[in-house]
Amino acid sequence: MNINNQLISTETAPTHPMLQVSNLNVYYGESHILRNVDLNVLPGQMVCLIGRNGVGKTTLLKTIMGLLKPRTGTINFAGQPIINKSIDRRARLGIGYVPQGREIIPRVTVKDNLLLGLEARPHGRNGKEEIAEDIFTLFPVLKTMLYRMGGDLSGGQQQQLAIARALMGKPQLLLLDEPTEGIQPSIILEIEAAIRRIIESTRISVLLVEQNLNFVRQADKYYAMQKGGIVASGSTRELSQEVIQKFLAV
Ligand SMILES: Nc1ncnc2c1ncn2[C@@H]1O[C@H](COP(=O)(O)OP(=O)(O)O)[C@@H](O)[C@H]1O
Ligand SMILES: [Mg+2]
Repeated sequence: MNINNQLISTETAPTHPMLQVSNLNVYYGESHILRNVDLNVLPGQMVCLIGRNGVGKTTLLKTIMGLLKPRTGTINFAGQPIINKSIDRRARLGIGYVPQGREIIPRVTVKDNLLLGLEARPHGRNGKEEIAEDIFTLFPVLKTMLYRMGGDLSGGQQQQLAIARALMGKPQLLLLDEPTEGIQPSIILEIEAAIRRIIESTRISVLLVEQNLNFVRQADKYYAMQKGGIVASGSTRELSQEVIQKFLAV
């Protein structure tokens, strides 16, 4: 899984980034939030963004998805610039987004929440009504709850629904913002296992914001953020105690 492994990369063709963020500067009004951010995610790579509360992790994911406009910088996805593309265009190009706090529609059934994810397909929902069985293989609990209201699910179930909804669009890159936040430990393990299976079975790229150290260690690479800038990066196999203490709330 680790594409950065030199033994592997010397034997394969050069790999171009799935996502390439360069010199990104983002403001909220006059507050300078992201500062000269550079970040790459290679095809099939799982990258974890770490950093304490308020450093700009969510701001970066929102900017990649198109919810915020940067003042300067470029974002390339699968080799093409997307900085001037709308949220919908980015979704249809293959970027899936699971926002922090999940944003499940509470008064809509689980099934209809899932079907909304079809809007991100290249040709939109197009009258489709079916949910592929592999969604339920990943998240069996959703099958038993298809006709419940989204808002009636537990936090862990809503998180699984939010990830499943993003997968309905068949993304090439999945942006996950703190998927284990506020979720009980047994469900955290289920979510981690599901994300691992998604990567293994689809070769999707993942950019994950996460505080849970065990989960962070499953990524190939980490970037650490402080005050809106990337201040460290490297292989998660080399995550030092110092980096962990400095950037993770453990
Ligand atoms: N809508 C907003 N308007 C103004 N400032 C914001 C807004 N959202 C976040 N911020 C500020 O931007 C900074 C980065 O926030 P955020 O990206 O949510 O951090 P993180 O996800 O790392 O906790 C914080 O200082 C936060 O207070
Ligand atoms: Mg956040």
